[in-house]
Amino acid sequence: MATKTGFQRFAGFRSLPYRSGIIYNFVTDCLYDRYEKYSTIAKLIGNGSKKVFDLPCGTGFLTRFLSSSTTYTGFDLNHRFLKKMHKDWKSGKINLKKLILKQNNIFDYDKYPKEPQDVIVFCDILHHIYDAQTNRHIDLVENAKKHANKIILCEPIAVKPQDVHAYAFIGKTTMFITKFFPEKVIKFLDFFLADNDGINSYHKRSSWQHDEKSLRELYKNLGFNKILKLTDDFIGVWEK
Ligand SMILES: C[S@@+](CC[C@H](N)C(=O)[O-])C[C@H]1O[C@@H](n2cnc3c(N)ncnc32)[C@H](O)[C@@H]1O
Repeated sequence: MATKTGFQRFAGFRSLPYRSGIIYNFVTDCLYDRYEKYSTIAKLIGNGSKKVFDLPCGTGFLTRFLSSSTTYTGFDLNHRFLKKMHKDWKSGKINLKKLILKQNNIFDYDKYPKEPQDVIVFCDILHHIYDAQTNRHIDLVENAKKHANKIILCEPIAVKPQDVHAYAFIGKTTMFITKFFPEKVIKFLDFFLADNDGINSYHKRSSWQHDEKSLRELYKNLGFNKILKLTDDFIGVWEK
């Protein structure tokens, strides 16, 4: 069974990867080993009939590694990504009996599933919604603790071209070239071709600046004591 709620275009201007799930998947494949990342998260979720809440779900690559008896709920504001997921589920690429997709803001806490979840996943989202002034990234994670027994967090230390250890040749070459570009050009490229999701400003996204020590510290302060490192990504686990 899959449910959807009439996905509609979200107003903000999005870069090319955020206009097409296929392009987004291609770009992420160039930047990191998606199989390693999502299979590691899936192992931490574990097998069996788990309730998994993915905030936000993006194009839903994680679902490919979950056991088919999982009850999966995904929120995202990107209608194209949600439509792609629904299509992939219909064609059998996503092999889950129960897929619930909602075009909701992850901060709409009152729209979270009423029943407690086994696992909430936050993958590649804190560096998008980061706000050092309001600390809303902390609120998001603290609130999730009321809804799940386990939380899995996965964020990169690197978001600037000079710090990214890209995975594929094309990703490596792009990072090598763009690291010499001035900030203004990087901001322009971000708007049209890179991480502009149409929801979170460049100003906020680019203020996510961590090294390994400060990211580990952020995870520890949030109560995530088990931390795994995958090239530029850190996976943290919190358990009730
Ligand atoms: C880098 S992608 C990560 C998606 C997914 N977790 C993954 O691992 O592929 C960031 C996603 O966050 C979504 N997003 C950003 N802010 C959001 C918000 N406030 N509410 C819902 N979705 C949001 C974007 O639409 C985009 O799909």
